[in-house]
Amino acid sequence: MVSSRKMHLHLGLPMSSERATQSGGDPFGAQFAHCGSGDSPPQSESGGLAVVVVRYGDWSGFVMEPTSELKIDGTVIWYDSDVFDSMEPRLFEPEWLRDIGSLRGSAQGRNEAYFLSYSGRDMVLRHLRRGGLVGKLNRDRYICTEVGKGRAMREFTLLAWMRSQGLPVPRPIAARHCPSGLFYRADLITERVPDARPLAELLQERALPERNWIAIGAVIRQLHDLGVHHVDLNCRNILLDACERAWLIDFDKCGRREPNGWKQRNLARLRRSIEKEKRKCKRFNWSADDWSALASGYLVGGEPQGR
Ligand SMILES: Nc1ncnc2c1ncn2[C@@H]1O[C@H](COP(=O)(O)OP(=O)(O)O)[C@@H](O)[C@H]1O
Ligand SMILES: [Mg+2]
Repeated sequence: MVSSRKMHLHLGLPMSSERATQSGGDPFGAQFAHCGSGDSPPQSESGGLAVVVVRYGDWSGFVMEPTSELKIDGTVIWYDSDVFDSMEPRLFEPEWLRDIGSLRGSAQGRNEAYFLSYSGRDMVLRHLRRGGLVGKLNRDRYICTEVGKGRAMREFTLLAWMRSQGLPVPRPIAARHCPSGLFYRADLITERVPDARPLAELLQERALPERNWIAIGAVIRQLHDLGVHHVDLNCRNILLDACERAWLIDFDKCGRREPNGWKQRNLARLRRSIEKEKRKCKRFNWSADDWSALASGYLVGGEPQGR
């Protein structure tokens, strides 16, 4: 059975101290003033998911629109209806994408990430996978939960919210939640950040100028100022685009938290990941001075507009 409807998503967030705000503005305008106007960083989601923040007593939450929902035999798909008038469910199927010539390649990582081009838009499809020991036995099944709490839906919602706050994170396009018995599988489609490469890859080729490290530090600080804990902040989850903008990706299992030391742990994890790559790669252009530049960017930060 197929059903489709427009919906309002709501996410309650335990951040009682937060002011209710609305989206808008380009917080990176000054930082990247030298860039061309082509690939504008995320701002008020013109043509994207509009986000309205609402307050519920001690809880802040937000409602996103326009998001649509498609249900097919128990599978639920949420999608940005500013991107697609109607959702093609086979967009989540790499074999189908290959057959129609939409597959452009894949990327390394814990999850399967496929680059695709469909309807004039470049996107990334990720099939969410479990990590660690559990992942060896059970690669991609999660214990059943209500749809809105599913892994893909949570990442979809968090990304939309972060973009509304001006953070440079990919635009969420669609999320799929597929229950099967006691479990569910999950997939997410985001818009591909144009001309962007992971930090780890770039450093194997060349050293980065100080301004890039400062920009990376500033973006991490903005993420932290919004209370978002990135559980896997590493040098593969930071992208730099052709305009030298820093982007953060891979928000599976991430969310907003009250501060209790995780910010420092995020930074320590990032540094460990850089040091690990340096040990692994014959040529890896990174030095302690680069970390100092990142730290100085972090200290200065920057206030995303709309807060
Ligand atoms: N929206 C995006 N735009 C550009 N590249 C992306 C995007 N999402 C993922 N990638 C690429 O795919 C790789 C894997 O994606 P990621 O979200 O980090 O999943 P995981 O590490 O869990 O497999 C990234 O390192 C990056 O190279
Ligand atoms: Mg990753």
